[in-house]
Amino acid sequence: MDMTIAYPIARTLHIVLGALWAGAAFQISILLAPVLIDVKQAGTDVIARLVARRELHFFMLIASATTLFSGFFLFWQMTGGLQPTLLKTSHAIVYLLGGISAVVAGILGKNVIGTAAVNIAALAHDGSPESKVHIEALKARMKNVGRVAICFMVFTLICMAGGHFVP
Ligand code: HEM
Repeated sequence: MDMTIAYPIARTLHIVLGALWAGAAFQISILLAPVLIDVKQAGTDVIARLVARRELHFFMLIASATTLFSGFFLFWQMTGGLQPTLLKTSHAIVYLLGGISAVVAGILGKNVIGTAAVNIAALAHDGSPESKVHIEALKARMKNVGRVAICFMVFTLICMAGGHFVP
């Protein structure tokens, strides 16, 4: 494939989908999660509806997968197919650390936050006091793990923004 076309396409997809992914993750974890805890059953209903509609799930899946795959493609090109001498440059190390951090954020988002949302949706209409306590604990986990995931995301963004400028 002609790299003069593939590289700019991959880079554009990477930046656009990465911005959408990070922006959505920030909004959900930092701005929305505390409100969903405050409003108790109404927050549970919102989570159950989001899980049932599946749009958020597909959006996060497509945005994260496209960002990660295009990122590793850019990294592959930048390092001439992972050549040891190019892998040792400070630029490559910074982009690699940022990339690994994004993978960690993605795993936390899918395996911890996404799974907690699905479990909340499953219990949402149970109505028993035990389920309500369990749901609130799951919401607290979503919020706390969300904050950790955002720390990884911000580290990724710093690496992406500064990668070309490290000495
Ligand atoms: C949350 C996830 C990510 C976001 C938001 C993101 C964002 C960005 C942005 C905005 C740039 C442009 C930087 C500039 O022009 O100076 C960039 C470049 C780059 N990213 Fe990412 N990125 C993410 C994940 C990844 C991953 C997983 C990798 C894999 C190693 C990666 C590898 C790269 C590389 C190699 C470049 C340089 C491309 C070039 O200069 O042509 N990124 N990224």
